[in-house]
Amino acid sequence: MRCVVANWKMNLLAADAAAWTEAFLARHSQAPGVAVGVAPPFPLLRPVGDALRAKGVRLFAQNGHAEPKGAYTGEVSMAQIQDAGCAGVILGHSERRQFFGETDVALIKKVKAARDWNLLPLLCVGETLTERQAGFTLEVLGQQLSILAETGPGPLWVAYEPVWAIGTGLRAEAEQVREVHAFIRAKLDQFMDRGDYPVPILYGGSVTPENFPELLGIPEVAGGLVGGASLDPGKFGDLVKQAG
Ligand code: 13P
Repeated sequence: MRCVVANWKMNLLAADAAAWTEAFLARHSQAPGVAVGVAPPFPLLRPVGDALRAKGVRLFAQNGHAEPKGAYTGEVSMAQIQDAGCAGVILGHSERRQFFGETDVALIKKVKAARDWNLLPLLCVGETLTERQAGFTLEVLGQQLSILAETGPGPLWVAYEPVWAIGTGLRAEAEQVREVHAFIRAKLDQFMDRGDYPVPILYGGSVTPENFPELLGIPEVAGGLVGGASLDPGKFGDLVKQAG
């Protein structure tokens, strides 16, 4: 299965999101074997959710709290995310790790909580430029993926997002992507009893319609998690078509 997910991050107002949805859906037709996801900011989940779901697009949240409810001002629970119509939740994005102190320990709880609420966890992993230059890429990824030894079997998508390639226009080279995706697959086999759940591994980091076909040709690249280019409904539509 191929997977293409738009991560809008902290972008768009309600009117922009409605226009995006109309423009994207006007050109979108569901293709067998391609799972399409959109991850809007929390306030936009309901305004765009119904229209996207009606065309088979899966709604994702960009983060979620592990507790089902309670005194956690400013947080949103997996229960609320599911109640808002989401099918999944992005977890461990590097921007959350970098700017909001998201830890691997917290992610163990979040992956479990997401599954408790029937949400598909889309776990992001990736190394910084300093880590890559120091030769620690695989070690860092191995550490980030080791949480899966604690979370047990269950649905999962993984996204490899090299931090230095996010929003920079610097896409990882094909050989770097190939090496890391093969490593992630091996770690999934080591840490996780996959049971009946196939685990697609997406690539993220400056994905565009210009470079996506090459990425899709790399073994173990099941699709893309797309930031900047996904804000343009035409470009996101092109990426979805390329995956089909
Ligand atoms: P860009 O596509 O803007 O590099 O962002 C990638 C990303 O972080 C998706 O989650």
